This record gives sequence, C-alpha cells and structure tokens, in this order.
Amino acid sequence: MEKIVILTGAGISAESGLGTFRGAGGLWENHRVEDVATPEAFARDPALVTTFYNQRRAGAASAKPNAAHAALARLQAEYDGEVVIVTQNVDGLHEAAGATVLHMHGQLDQALCAGCGHRWPAPMEMAVGEVCPACKGPHGRPDIVWFGEMPYDMDEIFGHLVSCGLFAAIGTSGQVYPAAGFVQEADAAGAHTVELNLDPSSVVSQFAETRFGPATQTVPAWVAGLLS
Ligand code: APR
Repeated sequence: MEKIVILTGAGISAESGLGTFRGAGGLWENHRVEDVATPEAFARDPALVTTFYNQRRAGAASAKPNAAHAALARLQAEYDGEVVIVTQNVDGLHEAAGATVLHMHGQLDQALCAGCGHRWPAPMEMAVGEVCPACKGPHGRPDIVWFGEMPYDMDEIFGHLVSCGLFAAIGTSGQVYPAAGFVQEADAAGAHTVELNLDPSSVVSQFAETRFGPATQTVPAWVAGLLS
C-alpha cells in the first residue's frame, strides 16, 4: 500500500489543552512566541526563555493525548503500508498515544548541550546554565529548534515526501516554513493531499482535499475511512 506522510501542528494538541501559537492564546505573558523562541532571545535573556520552556514543559507533561493522537497511532499500527508522522509540536502526545514521530522542531522533554551537542532527558525545571552531564559545561538549553535554526530530520522528511502516495496536514496554519512547503513537495511527487484543520490554513489552496472541524472529530473519521 502507498506510503502515508502526515504533518501535524499545534491544532492537534489544542483539544488536549495545549495552546496554539497563532490563535487567541498565541502570546505568552505579553511576549510574542516568535520573540522568545530564538537564539538571540536566549542569549539576551536566558532566564526568560528558560522559564518559558519550563512552563511549556510542565503544561505538556500534564496534558493527555486526545482522540486525534490515538487515531494516528491506530493508523500506524493497522495500516499495511508505512505511515510517517512528522510533527512541528514539541509535546510528547503522539508518543503517549503509542505513535512514533519525527520531531522536526525538537521536543520539550529533551535537553541539548550547546557546547558539545550531547542530548539528555530534560529535567522538568531546567536552570539557566544547566550543566551538561557529558562535558560538564554550563551549556544546557532546551532541545527546541528556534526561529532561524535548521529543523531536524529534513533529509529524511524530504525523502518521504517524494515517495508517498498520500500527504495529510493536520492542525497547522501553514505559516512557518519549511513545514508549510511540504504539501507542494508531496503534490509534485504525485501524492493525494488532504488538509484537516479547524480553519483554512495559509496553504489550503494547495491541497486536493480539505476536511474542516476539530481534530478529535475529523481525524478518527479520516483514519476509519483509510482502514476500511
Ligand atoms: N482541531 C484542528 N485544528 C485546530 C484546532 C482543533 N481543535 N484548533 C486549532 N486548530 C488549527 C488552527 O486553525 C490553526 O490553523 O491549528 C492551527 C494552529 O496553527 P499555529 O498556532 O500556527 O500552529 P502551527 O501551525 O503548529 O505553528 C507552526 O510555528 O510558532 C512556531 O515552531 C512553532 O511549531 C510551531 C510553528
């Protein structure tokens, strides 16, 4: 069966209580997320950025996967072809539902050493100057891909996009590249493309099919159709 590639965004975790970026809750304590999620912000005010991610880490840790996460895990388990899930989200809700994912923007429950590149499970509360367990330097930072940094696993992701028969984008506004350009790659490779979203994304016109509504309703129905 044809390979399925699925891109998810903040909208799939919205019904688990995690805020999206560009919805009403897109601001954090009057800071635009784009102004906090950058290497410059971290260099300028490491305490502010560390606190921002400690709060998001705590929020994500207490959230539960919803029916949309569960449906994608079911698809991966029951579909008799490859199902690749690429998420822009940094929460662990796909994994909590039993799915395997590629975290192209990193993940909250992982820390990265800016000195030696070592990665380790992040403590719930990271400190400014968190000590790296490998090099012992005070260079720990959240393992999050900030604006201006290169997303992870891009070669692998593009390899999947050019060889899939079906591409779906779920709960993403299509305003941040390279993820917003994935539909174009999949379409150029001849894949059928579908957007499942609450509102039309900025790239909705590039999708062959759209299904609007909350992810906890649209995704289980879509998966049931694929598995029938
Ligand atoms: N069900 C389905 N879709 C939803 C729901 C829901 N319950 N609630 C919101 N959405 C949709 C919105 O319509 C919107 O299109 O989810 C999308 C959320 O868009 P953003 O907040 O922009 O989140 P996302 O697209 O994931 O942002 C991409 O931007 O800030 C950076 O790195 C950050 O990964 C993030 C990237």
